[in-house]
Amino acid sequence: MAGPGPGPGPYRATRLWNEVTRRFRAGMPLRRHRQRLRSHGSCFTAAEAADWLHQVLRSHSSFGPDVSRQQTVQLLRKFLKNHVIEDIKGRWGAENLEDNGALYRFPPTSPVKLLPSPPRENLGNFSGDKGKLSKLPSSSKRGLKKQEFLQSVENLTRPKADVAGEKKESTLQRREISQEYVEETWRNIIQIHLQTILGLPSLEEVLQPAQIIPEFVMYNMSNTSRHGVVILQDKAEDLPHWVLSAMKCLAYWPRNNNMSQATYSGFERDVFRTVADYFLSLPEPLLTFEYYELFVNILDLLQPHLERIAVEALQICCLLLPPPRRRKLQLLLRMVARISGNVDMPRLHDAMGNRSLLIQTFSRCVLRCAEEEDLDELLSTRLLSFLMDHQQEIFQVPAYLQVAVQDHLKDMEKAQCKKEKEEICAILPTYSYCKQITPQEFEEQKVSTSQAAVAELLENIIKDKNLSVKDKKKKLKQFQKEYPQIYGSRFPTTESEAQLLENKPTLKQPMLSLRKPKFRSLRVEHPAGGYKKLFETVEELSSPVTAHVTGRIPTWLRGSLLRCGPGLFEVGSEPFYHLFDGQALLHKFDFKEGHVTYHRRFVRTDAYVRAMTEKRIVITEFGTYAYPDPCKNIFSRFFTYFKGVEVTDNALVNVYPVGEDYYACTETNFITRINPDTLETIKQVDLCKYVSVNGATAHPHIENDGTVYNIGNCFGKNFSLAYNIIRIPPLQADKEDPINKSEVVVQFPCSDRFKPSYVHSFGLTPNYIVFVETPVKINLLKFLSSWSLWGANYMDCFESNETMGVWLHVAEKKKGRLLNLKYRTSAFNLFHHINTYEDNGFLIVDLCTWKGFEFVYNYLYLANLRANWDEVKRQAEKAPQPEARRYVLPLSIDKADTGKNLVTLPYTTATATLRSDETIWLEPEVIFSGPRHAFEFPQINYTKYGGKPYTYTYGLGLNHFVPDRLCKLNVKTKETWVWQEPDAYPSEPIFVSHPDALEEDDGVVLSIVISPGTGPKPAFLLILNAKDMSEVARAEVEVNIPVTFHGCFKRA
Ligand SMILES: [Fe+2]
Repeated sequence: MAGPGPGPGPYRATRLWNEVTRRFRAGMPLRRHRQRLRSHGSCFTAAEAADWLHQVLRSHSSFGPDVSRQQTVQLLRKFLKNHVIEDIKGRWGAENLEDNGALYRFPPTSPVKLLPSPPRENLGNFSGDKGKLSKLPSSSKRGLKKQEFLQSVENLTRPKADVAGEKKESTLQRREISQEYVEETWRNIIQIHLQTILGLPSLEEVLQPAQIIPEFVMYNMSNTSRHGVVILQDKAEDLPHWVLSAMKCLAYWPRNNNMSQATYSGFERDVFRTVADYFLSLPEPLLTFEYYELFVNILDLLQPHLERIAVEALQICCLLLPPPRRRKLQLLLRMVARISGNVDMPRLHDAMGNRSLLIQTFSRCVLRCAEEEDLDELLSTRLLSFLMDHQQEIFQVPAYLQVAVQDHLKDMEKAQCKKEKEEICAILPTYSYCKQITPQEFEEQKVSTSQAAVAELLENIIKDKNLSVKDKKKKLKQFQKEYPQIYGSRFPTTESEAQLLENKPTLKQPMLSLRKPKFRSLRVEHPAGGYKKLFETVEELSSPVTAHVTGRIPTWLRGSLLRCGPGLFEVGSEPFYHLFDGQALLHKFDFKEGHVTYHRRFVRTDAYVRAMTEKRIVITEFGTYAYPDPCKNIFSRFFTYFKGVEVTDNALVNVYPVGEDYYACTETNFITRINPDTLETIKQVDLCKYVSVNGATAHPHIENDGTVYNIGNCFGKNFSLAYNIIRIPPLQADKEDPINKSEVVVQFPCSDRFKPSYVHSFGLTPNYIVFVETPVKINLLKFLSSWSLWGANYMDCFESNETMGVWLHVAEKKKGRLLNLKYRTSAFNLFHHINTYEDNGFLIVDLCTWKGFEFVYNYLYLANLRANWDEVKRQAEKAPQPEARRYVLPLSIDKADTGKNLVTLPYTTATATLRSDETIWLEPEVIFSGPRHAFEFPQINYTKYGGKPYTYTYGLGLNHFVPDRLCKLNVKTKETWVWQEPDAYPSEPIFVSHPDALEEDDGVVLSIVISPGTGPKPAFLLILNAKDMSEVARAEVEVNIPVTFHGCFKRA
């Protein structure tokens, strides 16, 4: 449903309107509804339309996740007014639509707006277009006095240092370069830069030359205060004094709150209302009606990876504004940015956070279309949010424009001196960014440059010292086949070829190779789509197969690597839809005296056994609904529904030990005991029977004595919700199954009565338990009522809380007591804790986060992951962005420290600020960040450093969700080491320490890698030296191995 929207260009707003209305008509589900004893076909309720459209708008690149439901309802009203929809009796034209059960339908007529036909008049005569200009109030359009304008021209066209020396000479020259010429130069330079930044073939119809008023630009650039705010000569055009005071009061709250005057509770709300009322009463938006199309075109650039470009474009566009508008906008943005970042500012609205309130209130004061029927509200929300976050950079004066104009005028002066008597042609700057060439030249260049690149590739193969002779021969042979001519010219004789290969000395692989790791750029592409093999069904093995080892397996490495993942991605013709739906396959690599074997078996869960028996999907999985048995009659099907939800036991996520046993698991109440030697399934265990939880994560903490801690949601009586920490003691002398002795040791409260947060892992230190409550919520009411009746699955029951941000909770591990401290930070998704430790009264909590509240799992449908590379990238662009972060939580507070940063540890930039409402606002230290590149599936030297101060973590690098590298990260220095190979797709790296290790990273890292392009052995187990991530050995197998999520190393 999500889409990139129409590209840049003219009439973008109208094209967007048309796109949204078309999509709405095409995609909005129509159903039969009953109303007042009558049945109506093919219609929908207003609330259903709001649900559907809200989703579409939020995932649309032009509007983004800030769109509120209220704005969606507003748009539906516009749809009703413009006959995009009509009520069930065929009425339209009013705007009386409410977010309720009233019925609406689509009219048979098309709602699409016609695009205006392209203007034919000479663009240079724009000012003659009275229709457009009449929208611009005359006071703002030509508000500058002639003298001020000349002053501006003077300031800008002459470099200040030159003034004294060149006074005499320049008098003559300046007389000759007219003001009109200077103006024209500015206009041209602005046009060229803007066109290049926006990537448009022409600015025609987006910004016409006459809309660039050089006197405004020059004034805006030269008349600024030391803070960079435009100063107006005519004070009558400025904000009224009382508005300025009110804005100042809010911007510097509470410092500038004049305490000598009596204030009262809610004072700040009244001040805010005063400011809001003033801006809302302005007849025209601050960006003016005239530049509406221009700013709408910039919306496409408001994406994280294009941030720099968007800032540059906005920098230029905001220079075009009449100075009084620019000043008002600048002051407004400075104020809203300050309020939204001010932790001491009380809530200005009961139901909305301050940031949301500011965006909702002021967006239409900033950008609005003169025509009523437009999507401007949604567009302006997005633009204001960006302007707010980048206001400082956007309002900086771009010196490069000034330099470009000066340079051009200087050149002109010189030209004039030389050819005083010659007529000066208007040689306007023509910044050519690429030289046009003929088609023939293009073809020639294409051949010569690509041939050169191929020849370079051959040289790289020849010179590659890391290739074995065998591999080099193989690659050369392949090359010869593809490019016989280039190969022939490099090796004209067979002797020259033989010489190269024979002279190569045979390299022996040392046990732990000290080869330097290869640092690669993050930009690796996967056009061949080899990653699709990660999501293909495979068969289990009847007995272990021997792997082919290259390099030498360390002799101390003895034991089994056990891992879990999906292995069956469809049952007959019924596909599973989500990454977490395929049926659980258990994998094992055994290491014994330098030899490696590989084995795998499907876990005989109920979900698997019943699917095999009935040859269809029987149990609803995470993102796949299991349809009822078609053989049952309607009554028995009805009673099956009412029996309630059959929860899946598909144990595809992890495998871990409890006592002497091993369990494969997912995240529900069922775990499955397996035999770690034979991989046979032993029995299903229902945790609900032992302890009060409705599920448990796949990431328990296991202490060195064997104690297991885990966390799970608990839905108690009367809908009481909590997150319970369960403890399973180690195996005792009586040999009784430790699960029988499970107990709840801590209960964390839930931020919402009906909606627990999704929890995937938690933090544990010797004395504390950390639980991070994220805004990804499970709507329990949906889960319990609608699921079995409406054909929904687990994914349908998730929703985001857009205002809560993230809450962190801490409990004392031994006493089970909650710390009465309210840690808060901005919204992110969290799946994996890296590590947590205590240091001098602080807890250091390292996390792999994904920024924002939108659920990352929405992007993990198999259709997305199996798409072609360009599509995979396109999808990932829209998803929350990853970042590994360190949060530091003070374990005690002193109220006297309100407003201060409580973190006193010298080695971190993370902060914790105590606010007046006694919440502690956390800002993280970023420990790893790469655009669209995640450091995920983190592992550490857990046995020795779990819960303790540590230095290294190992992770899987996700490139737009495709796993394509293994990384080691020093969390102190942020140094990284990377293992990567073309078209190779690794899995979570498991660290196994050397038995006599002295240092934290003495040991190896194990990962299953698939490398589908290289021949008969499409997968291998990779062993890396944990010191520098260099390859020690690999054990190749002749079968494909689909994606695995988590696992463990069981020492022999
Ligand atoms: Fe996980």
